[in-house]
Amino acid sequence: MTSLSYKIYFYILLCLIIICNISSAKTLKKRDLTSCLADVQGTLVYPNSPEYNADLIDENTRVNFTPSVIVYTKTVTDVQLSVYCASSLNMSISARSGGHSYEKYSSAGAIVVDITNLNKIDINSTANTAVIGAGNRLGSIYYTLSQAGFLIPAGTCPNIGIGGHALGGGYGLYGRKYGLALDSILSMDLVDPTGRLIIVNKDQYTDLFFALLGAGANNFGIVTSFTFKIYPTPPSVTSISLNYAITNIQNVFDAYNQLGSSLPDDISFSIVIDNGSIEFQGVYLGTQTNANQILSQFITQSQPTSTQFTEESFFNSVLRRGFQQTNGTIYLFHSPSDFKAKSFYVKSPGLSAAGVQSLITFMKGLPTTCPTYAIFDLYAGGAANNVPANATAFVHRDELYSIKLLTTLNGDNATNQQCFNQLNSFGEAFQANYTDYSCYQNYIDRDLTDWQTRYYGSNLPALIAIKKIYDPNNVFNYPQSIPLE
Ligand SMILES: Cc1cc2nc3c(=O)[nH]c(=O)nc-3n(C[C@H](O)[C@H](O)[C@H](O)COP(=O)(O)OP(=O)(O)OC[C@H]3O[C@@H](n4cnc5c(N)ncnc54)[C@H](O)[C@@H]3O)c2cc1C
Ligand SMILES: *[C@@H]1O[C@H](CO)[C@@H](O)[C@H](O)[C@H]1NC(C)=O
Ligand SMILES: *[C@@H]1O[C@H](CO)[C@@H](O)[C@H](O)[C@H]1NC(C)=O
Ligand SMILES: *[C@@H]1O[C@H](CO)[C@@H](O)[C@H](O)[C@H]1NC(C)=O
Ligand SMILES: *[C@@H]1O[C@H](CO)[C@@H](O)[C@H](O)[C@H]1NC(C)=O
Ligand SMILES: *[C@@H]1O[C@H](CO)[C@@H](O)[C@H](O)[C@H]1NC(C)=O
Ligand SMILES: *[C@@H]1O[C@H](CO)[C@@H](O)[C@H](O)[C@H]1NC(C)=O
Ligand SMILES: *[C@@H]1O[C@H](CO)[C@@H](O)[C@H](O)[C@H]1NC(C)=O
Repeated sequence: MTSLSYKIYFYILLCLIIICNISSAKTLKKRDLTSCLADVQGTLVYPNSPEYNADLIDENTRVNFTPSVIVYTKTVTDVQLSVYCASSLNMSISARSGGHSYEKYSSAGAIVVDITNLNKIDINSTANTAVIGAGNRLGSIYYTLSQAGFLIPAGTCPNIGIGGHALGGGYGLYGRKYGLALDSILSMDLVDPTGRLIIVNKDQYTDLFFALLGAGANNFGIVTSFTFKIYPTPPSVTSISLNYAITNIQNVFDAYNQLGSSLPDDISFSIVIDNGSIEFQGVYLGTQTNANQILSQFITQSQPTSTQFTEESFFNSVLRRGFQQTNGTIYLFHSPSDFKAKSFYVKSPGLSAAGVQSLITFMKGLPTTCPTYAIFDLYAGGAANNVPANATAFVHRDELYSIKLLTTLNGDNATNQQCFNQLNSFGEAFQANYTDYSCYQNYIDRDLTDWQTRYYGSNLPALIAIKKIYDPNNVFNYPQSIPLE
């Protein structure tokens, strides 16, 4: 924004302050907001707009917020105007990229800035970098990059937004080879809490660079684009699925705990457990023959009932998880639901036999209208663990695996409430008895006690200090934002 437009806004605000003295505060607040946002080029959706309710449905139907306006930004200047208005009118603001926050925090601000339209992707195949608009979804990114022969490491669900995902971590099926999504970020364009557009990287605003990489979700401003280091896709990859009887669970965990960390980093995989089954879902960045070979000991020890190895193109392996393809057109899978999730980390030597049993007992004890699964993502022996815990705000660098425990609440209200309470109290006991103290900030959880330390650990004091410098008025605040003290 030019200094002239700053002056104009200052003048408008001055006028509003004068009007303020002769109007009722309530009508004024709305008029202030409307006039402050008047120059936004994108679409503004106010609570009286017919689209308002539908526009607040994202992946999560359990939580509701009622923002004063949703701004569909068309340009970076629109983002700047929105932040400037929030800051001047002392209103809270939240960025919304893919809307996959487990607690819908992207809709928590009085002003919601939806950046879906900031979705350019520019690849430089000489430099092996890509400038990726923060409004992109993972699916479009995988698609566009793979067309040019590249990938970034990120999660599996194609409908996740890169904005929230990369700023809080970003782990998936290339994670052991290339680390978290945030480990490949070279630079970011950030609209800071005053509305200024700045470039943040290892040479400029190094404190913000540290803070955004792990604590970037709506704490220090709105990232409008990322420059990522990108990696060539292998000519073919091997998708792997191993299935197990639930009664065999202890063998699976023995193999996982003992062999997981020594597997080559070309393989990344998750172990998914529900009440009735166990599945190993993985991707090996190489041929089927090699995949078979590196997994032979794991298979002998863990005794799957069936194994499936599929050598295919990189993008077909991405498609396998969560895309819908019809007549050559690729759709991103979108399924809003009522769910609640918990996060755990486990360090070596892994979950004990009692811990495994406790998890299974919990799942079996839930009402059948609350289907529940646990996903174990192996970090150990991979790139994510090779970064020092204080190099970025992402502190979880010495973990064997991460666990996501997710319950879908499909029953009547009373049963849902019961499942919700059971999940929360199980989570507390399970963590106290069997897992690490920390939790993954991308599996954000409003019911977590001491969340600041669980998400950020020893990096918390540094993050608070940086928050004080860049957002002293706490414009970017929501129930789990970095506090000022
Ligand atoms: C179905 C599902 C599957 C998932 N699978 C994985 C997985 O495989 N691996 C994994 O690591 N995680 C996974 N996650 C978690 C996911 O990484 C987080 O929910 C992530 O925060 C989602 O980002 P988003 O942009 O879609 O969400 P949003 O709800 O848009 O944003 C999340 C948070 O980030 C903030 N934010 C968003 N954009 C910006 C921006 N540009 N600048 C500043 N702040 C911003 C928001 O205000 C909000 O606080 C999954 C989540 C779901 C719902
Ligand atoms: C801004 O709003 C917060 C509450 O939302 C309030 O505590 C604070 O005093 C306000 N600041 C100003 C300068 O009005
Ligand atoms: C791509 O990167 C190379 C090497 O860093 C640089 O010389 C070139 O100008 C870049 N191309 C574009 C289009 O930015
Ligand atoms: C896909 O193609 C089939 C056969 O040509 C057609 O019947 C169907 O309507 C198409 N589906 C979509 C979503 O376009
Ligand atoms: C778990 O599976 C058993 C049968 O294997 C079934 O009786 C029970 O209802 C299931 N529980 C849940 C929560 O789905
Ligand atoms: C980061 O941690 C390492 C090892 O624990 C330590 O030597 C280093 O001084 C720390 N760096 C900062 C900036 O605190
Ligand atoms: C269930 O909860 C929803 C949302 O809170 C509410 O609208 C609905 O009336 C409730 N239904 C019953 C039967 O209590
Ligand atoms: C945790 O440990 C306590 C005490 O040993 C035990 O009573 C409880 O059942 C355990 N909880 C879980 C979830 O395993």
